[in-house]
Amino acid sequence: MPYYRSVGEIPRKRHTQFRAPDGSLYAEELMGVEGFSSDSALLYHRHLPTAIVDAVQIEDARQTSPNLPLKPRHFRSQDLKWESPAEVDAVTGRRLLFGNADVKICFVAATRPSPLYRNAAGDELLYVQTGTAVVETIYGSLTVGDGDYIVIPTSCTYRVVPGDDLRMLVLEATGHIGPPKRYLSKKGQFLEHSPYCERDLRGPTEPLLVDGTDVDVFVRHRAGVTRFTYANHPFDVVGWDGALYPWVFNIRDFEPITGRVHQPPPVHQTFEGPNFVVCSFCPRKVDYHPLAVPVPYNHANVDSDELMFYVGGNYEARKGSGIGLGSLSLHPSGVTHGPQPGAVEASLGAEQFDETAVMVDTFRPLELGEGAEACEDPRYAWSWAKRGPDWP
Ligand SMILES: [Fe+2]
Repeated sequence: MPYYRSVGEIPRKRHTQFRAPDGSLYAEELMGVEGFSSDSALLYHRHLPTAIVDAVQIEDARQTSPNLPLKPRHFRSQDLKWESPAEVDAVTGRRLLFGNADVKICFVAATRPSPLYRNAAGDELLYVQTGTAVVETIYGSLTVGDGDYIVIPTSCTYRVVPGDDLRMLVLEATGHIGPPKRYLSKKGQFLEHSPYCERDLRGPTEPLLVDGTDVDVFVRHRAGVTRFTYANHPFDVVGWDGALYPWVFNIRDFEPITGRVHQPPPVHQTFEGPNFVVCSFCPRKVDYHPLAVPVPYNHANVDSDELMFYVGGNYEARKGSGIGLGSLSLHPSGVTHGPQPGAVEASLGAEQFDETAVMVDTFRPLELGEGAEACEDPRYAWSWAKRGPDWP
């Protein structure tokens, strides 16, 4: 996140002696991406952040299988069930929906606090569909609710403490997630044409200090998951500054870009990651040419798989398809998709859409995970022709 922030106590000069009230030195840590050549933060710990006393490999059985036969698909996260719903946390309870070499996309309905965790393989993007949570991090806490996107930098230790009815889509990238470069000036300020800017972002405001010894932290890395035991609780940072930290952006603060005729998906872009983009479709005035067709034209996304997560309102173009709140549609490259029959005619003359959806476009095919297979509606591919193997 290219935006300087300072929280808690820090010394006036970096890399100088900084002492606790008892005279002991705080331990300075640099969290920096791209070697030492890009954004970073300096954190000041009460204890050595290096002091681990155990490391145990954790079984990680997550697998995906190709989208075969290739077809558009519909999944209902609202129908996902967990074996013990009262014992689901936002880290170990994630159900893998989709994945490729660049990103894993999971869903979780969390009911209890997660263990401490960090993803050393890439940034994570959490999207809160419903409910509330406190995301506790080494940088401080973030209070989040429905519509919030939370960007968690690679290797940021955190845990999720859920409130009521927390349902989240989780993207685990193998790289960094941030605003599209075209929204930013050369020095990193949001430009006037960007649909959101610095005022819409939230970050930690005060340190989070927790005492404790022999504390477990689950670390996802390229080769799997390892559980480290730290001599001291990792939430021991008395202050930090820099441009690398977790931050929050609410989808309702996305200002839609509209036109006389249909605007293409890139106007909805919110984030970019390694070989994928995330777009926000928000309630908006629709196309105002006198002969405008407000719903999208049929389209072949030649170079990407298109995943749409329906989170609010009625999605006009999908009426009659079985899609509801919580649904995810997957329109892979190789198959043209478009509005359901009758949706074009029904949209003519509309002035406003109340839909909210989060779209993830990946530039490599998405494979299907266990969670997707557990909640697929097999009829969807035939919903345009209204006949096929599983229809009606
Ligand atoms: Fe599409």
